[in-house]
Amino acid sequence: MSTYNPRFYIEDAAKHDGQTVTIHGWVYNKRSSGKIKFLQLRDGTGLMQGVLVKGECEDTSFEEADKLTQESSVIVTGKLRKEPRSPGGYEMGVLNIKIQSIAEPYPISPKEHGVEFLMENRHLWVRSSKQHAALRVRWEIIRSIREFFDSNGFVLFDAPILTPSACEGTSTLFSTPYFDEKAYLTQSGQLYGEVGAMAFGKIYVFGPTFRAEKSKTRKHLTEFWMVEPEVAWNDLNDNMQLAEAFIQHIVQRVLEKRGAELKVLERDLSKLEKIRAPFPRIRYDEALKVLEKAGVGVPFGEDFGAPQESALGEAFDGMPVFIHRFPHEIKAFYFKRDPEDARFALGCDLIAPDGYGEIIGGGQREESAAVLKERIAEHKLPEKDYQWYLDLRRFGSVPHSGFGLGVERTVAWLCGLDHVRETIPFPRMINTIKP
Ligand code: 4AD
Ligand code: MG
Repeated sequence: MSTYNPRFYIEDAAKHDGQTVTIHGWVYNKRSSGKIKFLQLRDGTGLMQGVLVKGECEDTSFEEADKLTQESSVIVTGKLRKEPRSPGGYEMGVLNIKIQSIAEPYPISPKEHGVEFLMENRHLWVRSSKQHAALRVRWEIIRSIREFFDSNGFVLFDAPILTPSACEGTSTLFSTPYFDEKAYLTQSGQLYGEVGAMAFGKIYVFGPTFRAEKSKTRKHLTEFWMVEPEVAWNDLNDNMQLAEAFIQHIVQRVLEKRGAELKVLERDLSKLEKIRAPFPRIRYDEALKVLEKAGVGVPFGEDFGAPQESALGEAFDGMPVFIHRFPHEIKAFYFKRDPEDARFALGCDLIAPDGYGEIIGGGQREESAAVLKERIAEHKLPEKDYQWYLDLRRFGSVPHSGFGLGVERTVAWLCGLDHVRETIPFPRMINTIKP
């Protein structure tokens, strides 16, 4: 592989023990005790304490350090030495500082700010240590998602964002003028993913998806990223097996590679370390009994809300749990009905522990063109828009299944964050579209 390594980065400090290196970065914090000044520097990859000692540091640099404000940009040269008390295990004996730009008074200080203020300053907030850590965990999650599918022979199959019709019902569609027609922002790439499964056997769609959700909750965004594998010949059980192997891979990669970030986030690692496939699987009607016992029962035929998801997430000793075979009335048109009991659709949701809720939704698809036509009519969808989708059943139909994993809810769960707004650089919610 060709490499690109333009300059020293703090995360590589261990490779440069005892060497003189140059940090290109920003001032995170500073303090002084007479003849010694301390600069906490960040360069995007980590934090490093720079120690300025009068006489060891160049005189003008020592004087000019007083001018530095929070987030001023600097080029700092010095010698690295081991310091077990510092986060990365190293500190820098500073020899010289070149000031690139003195920052104006920075709006975000270590003191507490309200969330509204921080959200308005999201473009700056992402520099703060917890936000920074969460976004690096997000990056690792996305990398592990791709790694899992790529190394298991799934072909990446991109679905369009501008679409002519609905996938997940018509109540949460964003529409946009499209020349002389109307188009919708995709709610899910699934229907296109099914095209890919018939062409390539096993595929994954991965991209942004949109829901005009009026819900103001800690789990809902209007724009979120979803990864959607789809596999020809897989039934509902195969689908759950795929989902649990996939989740286990993501959790392990994050534990393996993002320990430092999880520490900044003060995540209780023991809860993640015990996540192991297979996960418990219970039918919707069994789940109703669990909920009844937990005091948050709902009548048969109703979907689960946050209290029910939380209760289910508690009920299995911190393990994610699959709920499968839902009343078909609460599921989308494309689900296959249970051949053993037509009241149920062959769906499966995966509920994360500790109140993080549904992170995966999916199931087995209807493979009969005739039945699917009935479903399209029942859901009052225009059949003409789904001709190409029906073609998949006309030309060599096979059983097939898939699911969608919401990236932001997964990030919230693994990071232990209260709200999905901190899991994506620029969250889009009912009242949030800036910056
Ligand atoms: O359960 P959903 O709606 O399923 C689908 O869209 C299927 N077509 C997927 C498939 O079978 N290929 O959404 C899947 C997941 C949810 O479990 C959740 O993690 C996430 O997407 N999700 C949201 N995340 C954030 N904000 C929202 N408004 C979300 N809606 C769904
Ligand atoms: Mg769902």
